[in-house]
Amino acid sequence: MVAELSAELIAQVQQAAQLLRSAKRICILTGAGISAESGIPTFRDKQTGLWEKFRAEDLASPVAFARDPKLVWSWYQWRRQLVHDKAPNPAHRALAQWQSASASVQQHITLITQNVDDLHEQAGSEAVHLHGHLWKNRCSQCDSVYEDDPNAKDKPLDFDEQLIACPQCGDYIRPDIVWFGESLPVAAWQTAEEAAADCDIFMSIGTSSLVYPAAGLAQLAKQNGAQIIEINPNPTPSTVVDLTLAAKAGAVMPVLIDKVINKSDK
Ligand code: OAD
Repeated sequence: MVAELSAELIAQVQQAAQLLRSAKRICILTGAGISAESGIPTFRDKQTGLWEKFRAEDLASPVAFARDPKLVWSWYQWRRQLVHDKAPNPAHRALAQWQSASASVQQHITLITQNVDDLHEQAGSEAVHLHGHLWKNRCSQCDSVYEDDPNAKDKPLDFDEQLIACPQCGDYIRPDIVWFGESLPVAAWQTAEEAAADCDIFMSIGTSSLVYPAAGLAQLAKQNGAQIIEINPNPTPSTVVDLTLAAKAGAVMPVLIDKVINKSDK
């Protein structure tokens, strides 16, 4: 794997590993880019097929759901179908390996994700989800959790035929996703803010850092003295970043985490 990285990148990975080895508290924020190598398109990629004339912002909103709930459900069913057979890639697995080794290397890692897929969990990580879960549903009015068929992941298209009414209040069931214009889940956001404000290193992996409030976590970490590492093949213009690894997460994370856990500088 190291052979595939340029000499310049290997030197930057070593620099990042050194910083990470001396850190006690690490806060990691992932975005759609970490799942790109698993075959899930990012939000800034152009949408394809049926949905190419829609922007995510025009479908992922309470206004869009009120106007045309079937259209919004169809989009989420399409996304569920797109995601349901996808598997974690080396970046997810490296993070999971680091989390499970963290106690033995005396580090505290908080993994926060903007992703609504469950690839971190499939890899064995515990992640705080800021933007909800693609596989969960709740009522659009009273917020009751709607337990779909436990095998919903294997049958992701059931909602297409008709909209489902909430057994508690009768309003429509919706995907348990945080839409544009909505607040983030309180407990998840509190965990994220505390971890960002109290970390030595903040890592931003595969996010365009355009969507707030998640994008503000790096600034919060920086204001509190953390160093910021970004992993993104298209580095963002963020001014708070101290070290950029301009590469795909799946290529760079296994090498980086090996150096952190095994203290190897090869
Ligand atoms: P974006 O689609 O905005 O950005 C994905 C980022 O990943 C881009 O900066 C890419 O350059 C980068 N990227 C692509 N491939 C990569 C790879 N292999 N390794 C590392 N990075 C890679 O996705 P997010 O930043 O996650 O919100 O978007 C934030 C939020 O906006 C999403 O959670 C979603 C969206 O609209 C909601 O749905 C509420």
